[in-house]
Order: sequence, then C-alpha cells, then structure tokens
Amino acid sequence: MAPLQGFTEAAVRNAFDRCFGGISEYYTPFIRLEKGAFRNKDLKDADPANNCVAHLIPQIIAADASEACMLVERLAGWGYRCIDINMSCPFPPMVHKGRGAGILAHPEKVAQVLSVAERFPEIRFSVKLRLGWASSDEVFALLDLLNAVSLRQITLHPRLGVQQYKGICSDESFSRFYELCVNPLVYNGDVRSVSGLTALIEKYPRLKGVMIGRGLLAAPWLAAEYQDGKSWTGEQKRRAFREFHQNLLSAYSEKIEGGEQQLLGKMKSFWEYLLVNEERKKWKKVRKSASLSDYCRAVDDLAASL
Ligand SMILES: Cc1cc2nc3c(=O)[nH]c(=O)nc-3n(C[C@H](O)[C@H](O)[C@H](O)COP(=O)(O)O)c2cc1C
Repeated sequence: MAPLQGFTEAAVRNAFDRCFGGISEYYTPFIRLEKGAFRNKDLKDADPANNCVAHLIPQIIAADASEACMLVERLAGWGYRCIDINMSCPFPPMVHKGRGAGILAHPEKVAQVLSVAERFPEIRFSVKLRLGWASSDEVFALLDLLNAVSLRQITLHPRLGVQQYKGICSDESFSRFYELCVNPLVYNGDVRSVSGLTALIEKYPRLKGVMIGRGLLAAPWLAAEYQDGKSWTGEQKRRAFREFHQNLLSAYSEKIEGGEQQLLGKMKSFWEYLLVNEERKKWKKVRKSASLSDYCRAVDDLAASL
C-alpha cells in the first residue's frame, strides 16, 4: 500500500489489514522535521504501539544528511529495520525546501541523503522516486549514484513533479529505468484493477512488487482479489467494507475531541478516494452529508449497493 498523507494513517492501515488484507507491506506517510523538530502527529502515526500490521515501513523525507540521520535515529530507536526515503513528493512546501521531488535535480544532496545507508548498516533502506521535478533527465542522471548503493528496493512513480498526480505515467521512461536499474524495482502509479496489475507484472517480470495508493481506496479488495486469484462477491465486499468503516469511525471517534462536525469532516475527507468508482449518486450523498447521522445512512446505503 502506497503512503498517502492524510489518508493511509495508522487507523486506516490497521483497519484495512484486518478487513481486506492482501497487502504485503504498508508504508507510513512521510515523516519530516519542522524547524529541526519532529511533529507529534508523525511520531504517533509511526509509533509501533499504534500499529498492528505485520510489515510497516516508515518513510522519511529529508533535504540533507543531517535531517536524514536525525529521522533515521529516531525510527531505529523504535526497532524499525527497514526505512523508506521519499524523493518523490511534489508538494510545493517540501519541494521548496529541497525535499521530495525537489531533491532529484541535485545529485550531491541525493548522495548526502543516501549516505545514511553507510552510517546505519543495520537498516535496510529503500527509495521512492519520481522521474524528476521538471525533466526525466533528472532520474537518469542519478542512476550511477543509485546503482552504487545496495537498496532494499526502489519504487518509481513514472511522473514528473510538475505533473503532481495528474496526466499520464510514462511507460517509456519506466521501461528504460527498469533496464538500467540494478536494485530491485517496484512500480507505482495509476493501478486500478487486477487486470492492470497482472498486465504490469507480465510486462515487467523482474519487478519486485507493485505499490498501489488511490486504487486501493477506490477498490479496497483489489489486492486481496489478486492474491486470492478470484473476484470478491458482493457479500464479501459489503461485509468487509462495513467492518472497515465501523473500525475507522470508532478509531476517529476516540481520537477526535472536537465534536461531531470535526469527526464528520475527517470521515468525509476519506471519500475523496474511497469507493470513487461505485454508484455515483450514492457516493455524492456521502460527500454532501451535513450531519453524522446523515453520513452514516448514506454510507450504509452505498455499502448496500456493493
Ligand atoms: C493525497 C496524497 C498524499 C500522498 N502522500 C504521500 C506520502 O506521504 N509519501 C509518498 O511517498 N507518496 C505520497 N503520495 C504519492 C503516492 O504514494 C503514490 O505515489 C501516488 O498516489 C501514485 O500512486 P497511485 O496512482 O497508486 O495512487 C501521496 C499521494 C496523494 C494523492
């Protein structure tokens, strides 16, 4: 499961794993430093005490070696032995600080961040990349650097930072990178169906894996269907979704102290991606509900149509 800041939080990952499964690795949204300090929210999300999925990989985002070391030290102290490094985030506040996709055009900074692999030999690092911020030349210029480090895997999202999450993924650039990259490679971007997933795996037989974000929120049974080798029945989907949603509602009712409207706002925010391909009218009703009771009725109605 791909990390999606604001969406794939601990409560979501835990409930997802319990109700749908099919996922071999979960990633936390990126953990960053703000004015040299950790954010409480990030720490809570990665704290092993709040996570119950079997394979959770915390992700860090850093502009240089000192930020990276501080982040890794904290996570290593919790016992994590696999850490992912974000070099893909196109969010302007990160890019302007030279983090995420903003680091890709600066090989010397990339080398600094990757030096954590030497500094922490007990940790297995992976990297999540885009093609570049403004040009795919950026990622190819990094290849020697990336090939010289033994990484657990590289996940490549074949878009540019300037595209954000829109426009087409470049199959051509991914194919070229696949041929030249010596570290195990994972594909990420726009996988929305079992047939799409299968086609990728057939086209790139040496892939280590496929990372899916929005597609899993739209069809949370997608990974389980792939693993099971057959489609889920309506009854399976309804039961799993209802349980998942109930789990989320309970988790956020406990977490959010600001009252019903705040809880409603949080729950509705998931529906930017959740079940987006299901009955449009019913989905819109969920998005527009003005009270928690309206919301629960609308969710129930939509779940009944799965
Ligand atoms: C709202 C949102 C938040 C995201 N947050 C993160 C993040 O914290 N770390 C990261 O590596 N990628 C993040 N991404 C990128 C996704 O992990 C993924 O690369 C992207 O959505 C493409 O995959 P998909 O088409 O399967 O969703 C985010 C994407 C979105 C839409």
